[in-house]
Amino acid sequence: MTGPETSDGEPKGRSIRGVVLVIGTFVALLLWVIYAGSDAGPLAAESAVVSAASGPAFVQRTETEYNKRYEDATGEHDEGAKIFKRRCSTCHRDDGGGLEGLGTNLSDLCFIHGATISDHIQIIWKGVPGTTMRGFSRLGLDRVEQVALYVRSLHGTNVADGLACRGTRTP
Ligand code: HEC
Repeated sequence: MTGPETSDGEPKGRSIRGVVLVIGTFVALLLWVIYAGSDAGPLAAESAVVSAASGPAFVQRTETEYNKRYEDATGEHDEGAKIFKRRCSTCHRDDGGGLEGLGTNLSDLCFIHGATISDHIQIIWKGVPGTTMRGFSRLGLDRVEQVALYVRSLHGTNVADGLACRGTRTP
């Protein structure tokens, strides 16, 4: 008399719970992948704000101000050095001498894209399309500035076995 309907109720409830569980797990995994994939959550958000602004907002200071920062921190570019070793030395070599087919010599006084700290910041932020030099905006403004100051400190160190001059030699 009760018929097949009574037995229907339970399995149906269970399968809905099952579907919710599967979707929930999927969403959680997706969020995890997004967060784990982005180098650092808050920094990615910072980059988004910056790129939304008009003009090169990543060049925050005048060259005089950058130079002042550089002078004030002379010999103490530890943070920039750390970033460089981690992110840049695979192509530019630990000492900045460059690696054939990968990255240019940053220890000479030859530059393809300009020798000022703002020039470096622009290149580091945006990269050079069509080359292996990609943009590092995801590091955020502070770290891009720190690594640019470190690159400045490599100027003219002319390390042994560095790659040949490319670009324009600055006086
Ligand atoms: C995968 C290789 C690669 C990595 C990693 C890389 N670079 Fe480069 N970089 C290059 C190449 C190649 C060029 C030259 C681009 C061109 O031919 O215009 C370049 C150019 C530059 C320039 C401009 C040099 C000039 O002559 O004007 C700077 C500054 C620079 N890189 C800094 C960095 C910093 C700082 C990092 C790390 C945050 C970095 N690079 C990571 C390959 C790399």
